[in-house]
Amino acid sequence: MYKNLINLFKENEGKGAVGAFNLHCFEMLPSMIHAAEKLEVPVIIQTSLGTAQYIGFKPLIAAVKALAQESSCSVALHMDHCKDIDALKEAIDLGYSSVMYDGSALSIEENIKNTKEVVAYAHANGVSVEGEIGSIGGAEEGVVVEKDAAMYTKPEDALHYVAETGVDALAVSIGTTHGQFKSKAKINYELLTELKAKLGDTGLVLHGGTGVSDEDMKRCVREGMKKINVGTELNKSYIEVVSKTFTADDVTPLTSLRGLLAPANERIAEIITDKASLFKL
Ligand code: 13P
Repeated sequence: MYKNLINLFKENEGKGAVGAFNLHCFEMLPSMIHAAEKLEVPVIIQTSLGTAQYIGFKPLIAAVKALAQESSCSVALHMDHCKDIDALKEAIDLGYSSVMYDGSALSIEENIKNTKEVVAYAHANGVSVEGEIGSIGGAEEGVVVEKDAAMYTKPEDALHYVAETGVDALAVSIGTTHGQFKSKAKINYELLTELKAKLGDTGLVLHGGTGVSDEDMKRCVREGMKKINVGTELNKSYIEVVSKTFTADDVTPLTSLRGLLAPANERIAEIITDKASLFKL
């Protein structure tokens, strides 16, 4: 079943957070959806604009929809961190079920103005919208926020932004960093509690999932996170497994490209299974 985030959050109410996994290439897609199906959880496949352009909007959307249709789990296709409103409108027109407008580098009023435009267009097409307030540090496929520019989400700004824009989900900055794989984040739980109390039903989103320990993942889910993003770990693991297979003594990878990719796809399924299990209450 192909759905938007509002439907996924409803379906998953009281069951934990929905995993949102960054797709880095076409090949890893089926294993992501099959892993979620096996675990009987909904799943969000998310792409950067760069990945969508690399694969092509139409083939990507068609493939996700086809896999979703034959799957027993609910699947959303979400555009991650996008600053380009025209590109978001194109994604909506062509069939993404959810989009994120990232105006976090703008002034709050400008961010609100642009987000409102995206929300009006998306909601008219049955598509959900994620926004961002505060600024999550680190690098995520083309979106780089220097350490000095990273900023905790201010609860009063978040409340103002959500009330004005009507976003369905909100990325909050509470201490995680995009692309953090060498160390673990220190999460500001006091801030998370305050945000949860102020924002009630808005789906809070944790970015930078690669740098979050298993204990913190579980605690964030208990404290009310609705969507948790994991990207870098999939990218890094795919490359590691492909390199290992390629340099192994076995000649299969040299005679069959599938022989090279299949073990990496299996690793992707394992990661989705491990992470999504942590997201269950
Ligand atoms: P990581 O790449 O650090 O897991 O973060 C993913 C993310 O938040 C995508 O927006």
